[in-house]
This record gives sequence, C-alpha cells and structure tokens, in this order.
Amino acid sequence: MTPFEAATHADPYAYYSGLRRQKGLLFDAGLRLWIASSANAVEAILGHPDCRVRPLNEPIPPAIAQGAAGMIFGRLMRMNEGPRHLCPRMAIEPALASVEAQSIAAIASRLIETLDKPLEDPDELMFTLPVCVVAALLGLPSNRLQEVARLTRGFVACFSPLSDETQLGESNSAAAGLSQLFSALLSKDDQRSCFLSHIWSGCEATAWRDDEALIANLIGLLSQTCEATAGLIGNTLVALNRNPGLLEDLQAAPMLVADLVKEVARYDSPVQNTRRFVAKRCTIEGSLLEAGDTVLVLLASANRDSSANPDPDSFLLKRTNRRQFSFGSGRHECPGQQLALTIASEAISAWLHRKPASSDRHYQWSYLPSLNSRIPRFYRDRELSSDRSYV
Ligand code: HEM
Repeated sequence: MTPFEAATHADPYAYYSGLRRQKGLLFDAGLRLWIASSANAVEAILGHPDCRVRPLNEPIPPAIAQGAAGMIFGRLMRMNEGPRHLCPRMAIEPALASVEAQSIAAIASRLIETLDKPLEDPDELMFTLPVCVVAALLGLPSNRLQEVARLTRGFVACFSPLSDETQLGESNSAAAGLSQLFSALLSKDDQRSCFLSHIWSGCEATAWRDDEALIANLIGLLSQTCEATAGLIGNTLVALNRNPGLLEDLQAAPMLVADLVKEVARYDSPVQNTRRFVAKRCTIEGSLLEAGDTVLVLLASANRDSSANPDPDSFLLKRTNRRQFSFGSGRHECPGQQLALTIASEAISAWLHRKPASSDRHYQWSYLPSLNSRIPRFYRDRELSSDRSYV
C-alpha cells in the first residue's frame, strides 16, 4: 500500500501503525518524499517556518494556472504564506470564532427541512447541507443556497490532481459563477449578514483592502467546508453502521452526538493527509530535509499515535484530553473546526431522529477517489454491485 492508496483503503490504520514503528519521519525513496506519521513529526513539520504549503516555484498547479479556478486558488490563505496568508486569516478567523454553536445549529436544522430527501440520499446531508449553512451565514440569497452548494462541489475539483479536463473546465465555470455571486453580495453594503459584517470589520481593523482576495477567501470558506465536512458526516454514518451498539447508545442518549462526531474526526479522519514543501535546508526530528523536498503529513496516523491519544485504536465517546490532528496544527490550523463539528452533529442528529425503518438495513459504501480525503459514497440497494464496497 502507498500512503496515497491508504486514504481510501477500507482499513489504513494497521499500515499507518507500521510506518510509525519504522520511524515517525522517514524518506520513501520510491515515492521520493518524506512521510511524517508520528504525532511529534506531524506537529514539527506543520509548525516549521520552512515547511510551506506550496512549492516556491509553483504557487498554483500548472493544470489550473490559466483559468478562473486558478485565480481563486492563488489567493487562498490555505495556499499562501506571509501576508497573503495572514491578512485574510486575521480578518476571517475572529468572525468564525464568534459564531455561536446555537445559531449554527438553528440554521442547519432549518436548512435540513429544505433538502429533498436527506435520509434516502446521504449525499444531501453530506455535501449540500454544510455548504448551504456556510453560504447562509455569509448572507447569500436563500433561494440560491443549493445552487451555491452545486457550484462549490464543482469548484473543488481544482484541488484534486485526479481531476480530468472536463472536471477542471467545470471547476472554472463554477469559480466564475461563485465570484459573480460574491461580487453582487459585497456590493450591497446595507444588506450584509452579521457574519459578513464581522469579516468586513476585520478587514477594516487590519487595514486589509483587496476585494479580489476577499472574494477568493469567502469562496475558500465554502470550498474548505465542502468535502471535509461531507467526509466527517459520512464517516460518522460508517461508524454507526459498523457498530450497532453505538447506534443504540446514541438513540438512547442523543446528547452524545457531539462526542460521537469528535471521536469520529479523530478515529477516521475525513482529511487523511496534507503536504508541505521544504523551502530551505532544515533538520526536523533528527532528519536533514533539503530545499525542494516534499513531505506527506499523515494527520490520520498522528491521531492514532499512542503518545498523543492513549489506547488510540479504541473508539471512545468520552475520551479525555483527545488530541486531534484532523484539523491540522500550526499557522494553517483549520479555523472552521467548531463550525464543522456543529454542522456534522446537527446532520447526524437529524439522521438519528428521522431514521426510517429501511435504514435498519446495512449500508454499503466505497470511498470517492482521492489521494487525501476519506469520503464514503453510499449505495442504494439496487446499486450494490461494486467490488470496492464495504459493509
Ligand atoms: C470536518 C471538516 C473539516 C476538516 C477535517 C478540516 C480540516 C482542515 C485542515 C487539516 C486544514 C489545514 C490544512 C493544512 O494545514 O495543510 C484546514 C484549513 C482550513 N480550513 Fe478546515 N476543515 C474542515 C472544515 C472547515 C470549515 C467548515 C471551514 C470554514 C467554514 C474551514 C476553513 C478552513 C480554512 C479557511 C483553512 C485554511 C487556514 C489557513 O491556511 O490558515 N474548514 N482545514
């Protein structure tokens, strides 16, 4: 197995544990990259100033550099260091931190009512709901939220090296559509939502004025939400399906949903890995890394390191001092963590509350093709033919 195949493997965790036993940070000569698998190595790489989110000579992947999607990609805080990272982060992070869980939950439970068939089609709960919640917080028109979710799903294809020409073309069109929606939203300065006003005040307080970068980073909030939160909701459904005892516990005590979702995020992370690119020769965890080296950072493996979480392979709802690498760490750590956990908890609560008798049948699923995300795709009864499906 390679660490890229591991992301969508039925059970990658024994493989990760083997990597950690060899060395927390090791060089794979075949793949020509460093692999960080222990909690210490993952934290050291993500905290190191010379380990950057993009290669110095390639701020935007060549396949998307010329289109609308590439223009957005190149301005995202997630894909930059220095002021292009810090300025949007300082404007947006406080606004994200200020949204109360109760308001998010209220928006999510209202929007669940607008979905066509969230129980029969888990895709709606996984992909449509989370993006609609963030779009609603930002103040996008309520009659266009589902369109925004569709456009966002189209746009995120630009992040995957597995996307083909058609998907990249759709990503460009989606990027253009989302940019138009946000330009219109920002032009109506008397109609801004509380959340958007908070971001706007953040821009003014930090004297950051760059409308194109602001629009890119608002689209970034939707795109960062899309697949990762879908994976968290999907992997929670997988955990409930694999463990009927857990399902019974949750049905008896629905207030445990928040604990369930947090433990799933640790145990079976929707973002299995991320990458860093070495800008200057440096020594990390006793290994010498050269400028130009690439490091594959196995977040999902660090979560299962016993030095971070005792008894790491046990699924414990009430785990004390849980250490979570699924949302990254260091200067690029996810600022949307609470938002994601709250939306996922609402989605799962709704699923548990309305679970139809038909869902007593076992689900089958496979994982959507990806080198870093772990997002299940569930099959309906009539589609159960795939040889990659798991029960
Ligand atoms: C389960 C859902 C989510 C997971 C697992 C997740 C995970 C992550 C991870 C691992 C990173 C860091 C990547 C790296 O350092 O290479 C990150 C960054 C980021 N996330 Fe999330 N995320 C989730 C949901 C969200 C949501 C809901 C939002 C906002 C609405 C969000 C906004 C961001 C942003 C803006 C960044 C870039 C931060 C920076 O570069 O400073 N994420 N996320």
